[in-house]
Amino acid sequence: MSIDHPSFGKLDDDRIIFFDTTLRDGEQSPGFSMNLAEKLRMAEALTELGVDVIEAGFPIASPGDFESVKSIAELYAKSGPVVAGLCRHDRRDILSGAEAVKYAARPRIHIVIATSPLHMRVKLRMSPEDVLQSIADHVSLARSHAPDVEWSAEDASRSELDFLARCVETAIKHGATTINLPDTVGYALPEDIEKMFSSLRNRVPGAEKAIFSSHNHNDLGLAVANTVAAVRGGARQIECTINGIGERAGNASLEEIAMTVRTRHDAIPYRSNIVTTHILKVSKLLSTITGFDVQPNKAIVGRNAFAHESGIHQDGVLKDASTYEIMTPESVGWTKSTLVLGKHSGRAAFRDKLKALGYGEIGDNQLNDAFRRFKDLADRKKVVFDEDVSALVDDEFRDRQHIKFVSLDVRAGSKAPPRAELELEIDGKVISATETGDGPVDAAFKAVQAIFPHSATLQLYSVGAVTTGTDAQAKVTVRLEEDGKMVDGQGADTDTMVASVLAYVHALNKLVVKRARSEPAALSA
Ligand code: KIV
Ligand code: ZN
Repeated sequence: MSIDHPSFGKLDDDRIIFFDTTLRDGEQSPGFSMNLAEKLRMAEALTELGVDVIEAGFPIASPGDFESVKSIAELYAKSGPVVAGLCRHDRRDILSGAEAVKYAARPRIHIVIATSPLHMRVKLRMSPEDVLQSIADHVSLARSHAPDVEWSAEDASRSELDFLARCVETAIKHGATTINLPDTVGYALPEDIEKMFSSLRNRVPGAEKAIFSSHNHNDLGLAVANTVAAVRGGARQIECTINGIGERAGNASLEEIAMTVRTRHDAIPYRSNIVTTHILKVSKLLSTITGFDVQPNKAIVGRNAFAHESGIHQDGVLKDASTYEIMTPESVGWTKSTLVLGKHSGRAAFRDKLKALGYGEIGDNQLNDAFRRFKDLADRKKVVFDEDVSALVDDEFRDRQHIKFVSLDVRAGSKAPPRAELELEIDGKVISATETGDGPVDAAFKAVQAIFPHSATLQLYSVGAVTTGTDAQAKVTVRLEEDGKMVDGQGADTDTMVASVLAYVHALNKLVVKRARSEPAALSA
């Protein structure tokens, strides 16, 4: 059986559409908002990853959201993924959504209204009959602006099945081409979800004309399991986000679903366009942009996802990786080895490692600088992991270094006010400053300000460990904002304070480049 869809043409029944909502539902999670340049960068990465639909935002929510959706639509004016904008059942909302997505070669208007008794009574204050009328009116309105219309039944999993069936029938009758049945509050069990999809697909007249879509939240940690159950029940579009970000406990994670479908093809025999080897890269890009790393044990993209600690496991993996690995690290973008370099490694091994990590051929000067820092790190650390090398080399390839870190001496503790003595080189001239502050980071950042006065404000300061152990490199992200220009800087060092100043200086260097170019805010980490 196949379906004829306005955006995708003929779709075979074994094809799963990946609908990514990182830029809409994902961005709704506290602390995860992104600026325009960051959203464009994510959109490009999602496209390379092979997603079929990018939900670019909620156009009526703010002028910034409207601009982001419009800019992403313009990016895909000739070809590329379907670009969707979310709208409520409201005329102004839908007109603004239609205006924002219309530049895309394949625009989609996504409209939503709640269908559960609780939401209709308390939130909408509408009767079921009013909701049915609203579906007829607003799906028709959306269809008069775009051939591709998705209709969502918010809180579908807590809706009465008979009423939901009438809603779905009405939406299809008035032109909806995708029917989305979200588990908005992450309450459903996999068997509930499978039953909801299979019974609606069987009993709703016209169901064969639309693609059924699943959108699950992770409040009970069941979002991915519920998505797999939806596919079994007949859903062929799955809505998900990178790293599972989203409202509250998040949405179903794209990487987990993609790898479940690929790894368990025996039980879930469906195809998608996802290029799984890009998964890690996109996950890391999102972490860099938002400043939030995934937890170490996160499936697929956590740094422990392919690490083997116990002797028994290591022994098995060395004999045959499939003893403890159900998919290869390379299939999602990891390099195979996790620890190979140490203080006895030479320049050739280091150069090889850089190639394996995707840095390509690098110039002798850059190689020498990076190698010196690597030797220094290897002396201080027992083992040097791939991530250590990446962090260290990323440091070497920083944007034009107008400001360079020279040295830092910090006094911390409980006896005297924290004090930082800092030396930076500004265009070849070493300048020093000593400052006190509310803690050592504050003192060090004040010293940066004293040496290089600027009006940028600190938007984000986040510290994570690149690898494990007390000798791990700290990886610090600093986000600065000046006159609407946003830059992220990263620094890595075994000393958290040095890493903090490196990150600050990295961000300032980017700001200097941006000021000179006077370009709009962009993230170039
Ligand atoms: O969770 C939800 O119900 C949603 C809808 C807007 C699709 O995000
Ligand atoms: Zn949602």
